[in-house]
Amino acid sequence: MEDGQASMTAQMVALSRVAHMEFDKPPYIFEDPLARDFVAPEMMPFLDLLKTPPDPHPGLQNSRIFLPYRARLIEDRLAAMYAQGLRQYVLLGAGLDSYALRQDPSMADLQIFEVDHPDSQSFKQARMQANEWHAPGNLHYAACDFEVSGVDEALTQTCYDPGAPSLIAWAGVVPYLSKESVVDTIARVSQCTAPGSVLMFDYMPVRAELSEDDCAIIRIMNDYTSGENEPFVNAYETEEIKTVFEDAGFARLDHDDVDAGRRRFFEGRQDGREMPTYVRMAWAVR
Ligand SMILES: C[S@@+](CC[C@H](N)C(=O)[O-])C[C@H]1O[C@@H](n2cnc3c(N)ncnc32)[C@H](O)[C@@H]1O
Repeated sequence: MEDGQASMTAQMVALSRVAHMEFDKPPYIFEDPLARDFVAPEMMPFLDLLKTPPDPHPGLQNSRIFLPYRARLIEDRLAAMYAQGLRQYVLLGAGLDSYALRQDPSMADLQIFEVDHPDSQSFKQARMQANEWHAPGNLHYAACDFEVSGVDEALTQTCYDPGAPSLIAWAGVVPYLSKESVVDTIARVSQCTAPGSVLMFDYMPVRAELSEDDCAIIRIMNDYTSGENEPFVNAYETEEIKTVFEDAGFARLDHDDVDAGRRRFFEGRQDGREMPTYVRMAWAVR
């Protein structure tokens, strides 16, 4: 990310949630009624681009559905873990995620920690102010640039309890970090989380593990994100990412079951959206 500039990709992710509800057909995989107002008005022309991408690859139109799908997996896991006693939810690189403002009233004793790059966090707070949305009392902010400082240090500025289990969402962040920062952040998360905690994240697989179509989609997306000074700077082999988590002390790493996701959310859709495979969702258990 460029210093002094809030994440543009965070706005694109929010726009993808808008596009899902406005251009796709129900049943919706994920509903975020606040996403439209979170995005800056001047970004709205990008919504038309999401509706009809001007690129030659048909798969790009489909690829945006991964973003609501990712959010759905995380919030489903949050609800399931809450039912089992979880009371801490940490969003690393929170972007314009609106869970804190949409939160389930029956889960009001959940403590929510949003850790993000200071420029992105200031932008989000400015958008909340512009919409006259107030941060709920159980939302705690911690600013952190993962390339220069540690998430563990950032969380110590809040009431975060390292002795209690947490769900940590790290959605759409890994591809933008140097591999050194990815390893460092995972090690720090491991050190500051209790056993039973879960870190959910997504990553780009190496080209050798992808189809030609998926490689083409990534190339086109990377052209866009690079233009916004947020290029994808890494990709992982399955074994490599497993080793990173093992070395950091996590008990295991599970990958999303793509066939199960396809059956649950994509079979019989009326809008032709298909399960995207250019990026992988995984979760590591402490
Ligand atoms: C694509 S957005 C994803 C936002 C959100 N997680 C979501 O899914 O809606 C990427 C996020 O990563 C954050 N990010 C990127 N590089 C970062 C860094 N070096 N330190 C902290 N946050 C970073 C950006 O600020 C932004 O919020």
